[in-house]
Amino acid sequence: MRRARPRASGCGVGAGLVGDASPANLGYPRSAMHDDIEQLRARLQQILPGGELDQLCLPRTPDIRLLLLRGDYPRGELDPEAVQRVMDNPLYWVFCWASGQVLAAYLLTHPQRVAGRRVLDFGCGSGVVAIAAALAGAREVIACDIDPLALAATRVNAALNGVSLTLADDFHAVEGPLDLIIVADVLYDRANFEWLGRFVERAPEVLVADSRVKDFDFPPYRQIARQASCTLPDLDESAEFRDVRIYCSGRDPHPG
Ligand SMILES: C[S@@+](CC[C@H](N)C(=O)[O-])C[C@H]1O[C@@H](n2cnc3c(N)ncnc32)[C@H](O)[C@@H]1O
Repeated sequence: MRRARPRASGCGVGAGLVGDASPANLGYPRSAMHDDIEQLRARLQQILPGGELDQLCLPRTPDIRLLLLRGDYPRGELDPEAVQRVMDNPLYWVFCWASGQVLAAYLLTHPQRVAGRRVLDFGCGSGVVAIAAALAGAREVIACDIDPLALAATRVNAALNGVSLTLADDFHAVEGPLDLIIVADVLYDRANFEWLGRFVERAPEVLVADSRVKDFDFPPYRQIARQASCTLPDLDESAEFRDVRIYCSGRDPHPG
């Protein structure tokens, strides 16, 4: 995995959005990154006027910085029309979800899970888990999402963290063998349950992080880790949605 280290600075409110990222050796010109950020900002303004994007460092993985919704977004001040707009156009990529943070931290502390492997992150959102896999030494990381804006956000965030990812908008169009599929917080929609079976047909190992399903009973998946977390910026979700579990398909070749 090609990697160029960005300078470690500028996390938090007030940081420049691009800073010194977008290293040319990642094949992502600064002008393209600027255009992506403008597109993301414009969409955010359409759906959630008053919401701003900023670079935030993750509490569990401070080495990862992401362009996310700033914590001072308008809460509780939305009229019913605006609430409906947000519901109809979920901006998943402006948040780093609790499960994504836990799986990202897990990969960074268990790099043997991904090192040298070809990995696909399904439902990448901001790209947090894909970025962690790349930082942990994966040979190639494919970040997959059906939302083109999530892919744009992932492209920006990969550059902010000095890693290169392959982007895909269609899981079925990804060719070649995969060693590992990583998935965080996509089971909020019951329609996505059927993907659990597709994953095990496509890759010899699958890691799923989730806090939405109460009685997770999908053999051959079994729980291998559990950790409390919260979505960033904080959505004040109830305690049950902060209780994240990681499930692994098949046996655990790297226990501990
Ligand atoms: C709640 S977000 C989680 C994002 C990220 N994994 C994280 O943990 O921060 C769920 C993401 O899954 C994507 N998604 C949902 N269903 C999908 C599907 N069938 N194929 C690809 N992506 C999907 C959504 O567009 C969204 O970006």
